[in-house]
Amino acid sequence: MRPKITVIGSLNMDLVVKTIKFPDDGETILGENVEYFSGGKGANQAVAASRLGADVSMIGAVGDDVYGNKLKESLNKDKIDTSSVKSASGETSGLAFIFVSKTENRIVVVPGANFNCTKDDIDLHQDKIRDSDIVLLQMEIPLETVSYAASIAKKFNKTVILNPAPAQKLPDDLLKNVDILTPNETELQLLTNNESKNIDFNDQMDLLLRKGVKYVITTVGAKGVLYKSYQQEMRALPGFDVPVVDTTGAGDSFNGGLAYALGKGVEFTEAILFANKVAALSVCKAGGQPGMPTLDEVKEFDSKLEKLLNKEDIKL
Ligand code: RIB
Repeated sequence: MRPKITVIGSLNMDLVVKTIKFPDDGETILGENVEYFSGGKGANQAVAASRLGADVSMIGAVGDDVYGNKLKESLNKDKIDTSSVKSASGETSGLAFIFVSKTENRIVVVPGANFNCTKDDIDLHQDKIRDSDIVLLQMEIPLETVSYAASIAKKFNKTVILNPAPAQKLPDDLLKNVDILTPNETELQLLTNNESKNIDFNDQMDLLLRKGVKYVITTVGAKGVLYKSYQQEMRALPGFDVPVVDTTGAGDSFNGGLAYALGKGVEFTEAILFANKVAALSVCKAGGQPGMPTLDEVKEFDSKLEKLLNKEDIKL
């Protein structure tokens, strides 16, 4: 059974500049090279889920410029249904300027056409939401659209995953319609007004759970994830130590992997573990979408892990 996933979100052209270090204020430095990749948190998550074996539909908007068709075509190559991605006339496609150093990335997104994805588009494509198992959302389209989409998904009794990136404060009437919220550390601080970092993870996640979110999964980079449901103990799952090439899209691969696994009916903790593996593999290649692994690659990674475990057993 192939899970059906609808991703409602952004498509961007990523201009990725490789650099030894990031420039300081007022400083000019020379970058090593620039590459163009199809990206956007929505599109990346759609690709991640589709490569693993989900039937994915995307709702979103591109511009009527040179990048618009390219962004749709690259999704089509990954077998994603883009019939609900509109071309917004007179708009430029979303652009992301990404600076990648050895260990981290910094991203500036200019949303362009992504902000033309409105409540009307959700109404127009309600059938896609109704026909899916999981609805996957991020914050690179208007907040109003995200809130409306979550309410429609709930009306149809669908599982709603919200990846609250880029970080912004979220209204209670959106949170009450979210089943699974997947912030990173920075996003968690902002969502819970904890800029001074004086509350611990457990309490921060509880603040969100009290607003009606069913599970909070906080990704903490290579260290792994912390997760929790209401009045349950916080639990942790470790990440994997892999040779990192580019962390762009690591969060997206996690969300796509999580949606795929839950859509397949995998148990919650196992689904997080699976998503962790997908994220680990995604950072081993350059670019967000190019790095998304197939299911076979995840299985191969699994078999390597087992071999490692076996060696440990022998030593004992
Ligand atoms: O999460 C990575 C993505 O963030 C990039 O592909 C870029 O487009 C921005 O949306």
